[in-house]
Amino acid sequence: MGQFPLTLSRFILQKQTFPGGTGELSRILDQVGLVGKLIAQDLRRAGLINILGASGEVNVQGETVKKLDEIANETFLKAFRQSGLACAIASEEMEKPVLLPENWPQAKYMLLFDPLDGSSNTDCNMPLGAIFSVLKCERNDRMPTEDELVRRGTEQVAAGYLFYGSSTMLVYTVGQGVHGFTLEPGIGEYLLSHEQIRLPARGKVYGVNEGNYHKWTSGTKKYVDSLKIQDKATGRPYSVRYSGCLVADVHRILLGGGIYLYPGEVDKPNGKLRLLYEANPLAWIVEQAGGRASTGTMRILDVEAKQLHQRVPLMIGSADDVRDAEQSIQGQT
Ligand code: F6P
Repeated sequence: MGQFPLTLSRFILQKQTFPGGTGELSRILDQVGLVGKLIAQDLRRAGLINILGASGEVNVQGETVKKLDEIANETFLKAFRQSGLACAIASEEMEKPVLLPENWPQAKYMLLFDPLDGSSNTDCNMPLGAIFSVLKCERNDRMPTEDELVRRGTEQVAAGYLFYGSSTMLVYTVGQGVHGFTLEPGIGEYLLSHEQIRLPARGKVYGVNEGNYHKWTSGTKKYVDSLKIQDKATGRPYSVRYSGCLVADVHRILLGGGIYLYPGEVDKPNGKLRLLYEANPLAWIVEQAGGRASTGTMRILDVEAKQLHQRVPLMIGSADDVRDAEQSIQGQT
């Protein structure tokens, strides 16, 4: 008989002990897991219950909102409002954060999330995800203000993602490695399936929206061109894998190595992705697994956060691949 399966809650209790921890952070991860179960259930029947397509709204990023974006956002909001576990919440879908004075002072954490990542995939049954980042309130004498959610990636205390693919997964870090859990639908539990994930130093896969090639800087073009050169010794050409869902693309790279890029463009130097909701949590995950995450010129986790919805160029994955991209972008190769 194989080993008895380890549930998410059990794993956190047994293996992830925090000095001075009160169990609150573990309950936050459990609650994210519950949100994942609820959303996964909606996604499984989405084509049958009239929740596909656009909602008719445009979000703070100027993007068309899908019905499922709204549903996923509401699910996160309700779950955390009611849980009493967070005193402030910010979502990629909402212009302003929601402060929860009713949860203060017992709740000392703040949650930032992208409730449905890759939402252009909703209508064609392709992978989707959600990304989350947890911060700790700096002060205990008063409620945090909106500005206190805008912090550097190095200040995260937990980060992770939900991945709705052929199975539903929850992958997280609290700074003690990266661990992945697969939802066992028969019993409704996340079971440990990927303990202590490590990325190889170099991969054979790149993920980037190459339709944007003509908008890139010469350094980015040069780097992506270099991946297509035939050279057995360096494992090139690399294969392209791009799903349009950041979580799915980074998950592939986390498990097998390689590089995902959403670079800045000549007319849009900060690119598309959001620092606080996407780049910071994924950067911490990838670093914890031995990889690297960069803007092309600096470490993502050191980028100074100035605005809630700030965008940032992202290159993330195997350390050697990201270093090559940085060198090319900085004009050194
Ligand atoms: O953040 C939004 C997102 O949907 C990511 O999940 C994905 O990687 C990216 O945008 C896709 O953007 P594009 O359609 O420009 O390739």
